[in-house]
Amino acid sequence: MGTFEGKVVVITGGNSGIGYATAKAFREQGASVTITGKREEPLKKAAAELSVTGKLTDQASLQDIDQLVTEVKHASGKVDVLFINAGVAFFAPVEHTSEEQFDTMVNVNFKGSFFTLQKFIPILNDGAAVIFLTSGNTALAMENSAVYSASKSAVGHLAKIAAKELAPRKIRVNTVNPGPTETAMQHKFGFDDATLEAMKGHILTQVPLAKMGRPEDVARMVLYLADHSLSSFITGAEFFIDGGMAL
Ligand SMILES: NC(=O)c1ccc[n+]([C@@H]2O[C@H](COP(=O)([O-])OP(=O)(O)OC[C@H]3O[C@@H](n4cnc5c(N)ncnc54)[C@H](OP(=O)(O)O)[C@@H]3O)[C@@H](O)[C@H]2O)c1
Repeated sequence: MGTFEGKVVVITGGNSGIGYATAKAFREQGASVTITGKREEPLKKAAAELSVTGKLTDQASLQDIDQLVTEVKHASGKVDVLFINAGVAFFAPVEHTSEEQFDTMVNVNFKGSFFTLQKFIPILNDGAAVIFLTSGNTALAMENSAVYSASKSAVGHLAKIAAKELAPRKIRVNTVNPGPTETAMQHKFGFDDATLEAMKGHILTQVPLAKMGRPEDVARMVLYLADHSLSSFITGAEFFIDGGMAL
């Protein structure tokens, strides 16, 4: 029997990268898992590969979140683990960041995370675990990441307040902050391969362990924080998985 046998897990942004690796790890431990994504085909493909339920949900849309909560409630009743992971990043200096980029990052990363938590609260089991995915970037003052970093920092603060508000129901709320991790995300920035390789080389010079993280590294921390037998005294905490980059 896996550690999460019979547990109901919801992961936003589970069709690739960190969300996908985490969904896979929960499935291997016996959980019943629902993943979300914004693009239909990759979501269907991932759901079939992982034997999980895929729900097309734009995390920036309150209507979509309502629909997700209704469907999860109908299918599973209550939720034991909520991993709010979906996020987007664009990098540009303050001077050249467009309103559209600003709105997209704030709406998906912050507003979407906030309302996903809010709308799931009524169907979280007492003793449930909520894990937010922010970024190691929140501890840095990295050029070109003002809006991304601010949107993720806001989530980090939200998590701490939610941890206090939900403590009476023994719901634990924690944050995982990955450093540079090998996922599809880098390929969504719109840079060519040579630029991406140069960026990666530059980033690695700032990581004491001199390597990129893997989605599985992050997944293991999420499972640890979701496992009451290992982390029942941990709430409102943030965990950097960044090879020491934030030091
Ligand atoms: N990779 C890194 O170096 C790194 C470092 C620190 C933090 N992070 C954070 O880690 C999280 C996961 O990213 P990843 O690296 O695993 O990248 P990824 O492979 O690109 O995964 C991002 C996931 O989020 C989903 N998503 C994006 N916008 C969405 C929306 N509006 N509604 C629903 N789902 C949406 C994507 O679905 P679609 O494909 O359908 O859009 C995808 O499943 C993000 O919050 C990211 O900011 C990543």
